[in-house]
Formats: sequence, C-alpha cells, structure tokens
Amino acid sequence: MKFFTVATAALVVFAGMVAAEETEAAQVVKRACTTAPKGCVCNKVQGQFCGIASPCVVGHVYECNGSTGAACDYGPRDSCKKCNKLVC
Ligand SMILES: *[C@@H]1O[C@H](CO)[C@@H](O)[C@H](O)[C@H]1NC(C)=O
Repeated sequence: MKFFTVATAALVVFAGMVAAEETEAAQVVKRACTTAPKGCVCNKVQGQFCGIASPCVVGHVYECNGSTGAACDYGPRDSCKKCNKLVC
C-alpha cells in the first residue's frame, strides 16, 4: 500500500511539472519575439513593420514598442520578403 502512495505522489508531482512547463511554453509563444538588432528602432509608432534595411533584418517582421521606440523581432514573414510590406 505504501508503494501506491509514493507512486501516486510522484505522479502528482510529475503532472504538476508538466503543467508548469506548459504554462511557460504558452508565455513564450505569447511574446515570441526577440530583441531587434541594435539600431533597428521604430520612432515610437506602435505596431508592426517589415525590416526593410540594415540594421533591421530584411524580410523579418517587427513589433514597435510605442512607449520606448524599441523594436522586437518576430522573425521571417513571407509578405516582408515578397514586397517589404505587412500585406502585399
Ligand atoms: C514597451 O516596453 C516597456 C519597457 O520594456 C514595457 O513595459 C511595455 O510593456 C512595452 N510595450 C509594448 C506594447 O510592448
């Protein structure tokens, strides 16, 4: 009987760990952007824009932080690669 108690406790701990990891993963997805290269800024206009010239990465889409002017890199985007716009 003691074995089952230990096994159950272990299972509960394990399930808790899985749940915690899923929560972390969700948070990463929610703000899945990395800091843009130094000098790739956006004049404090809140919203998304395509990197069209160095030091921004051409073909990547960025989110501008309207209060700090810092850009955040969301990675490659087809429309940015095709026509340097969010929508072609
Ligand atoms: C802008 O950056 C500040 C400081 O890092 C942060 O607190 C704020 O949430 C950011 N705003 C947006 C819209 O990302």
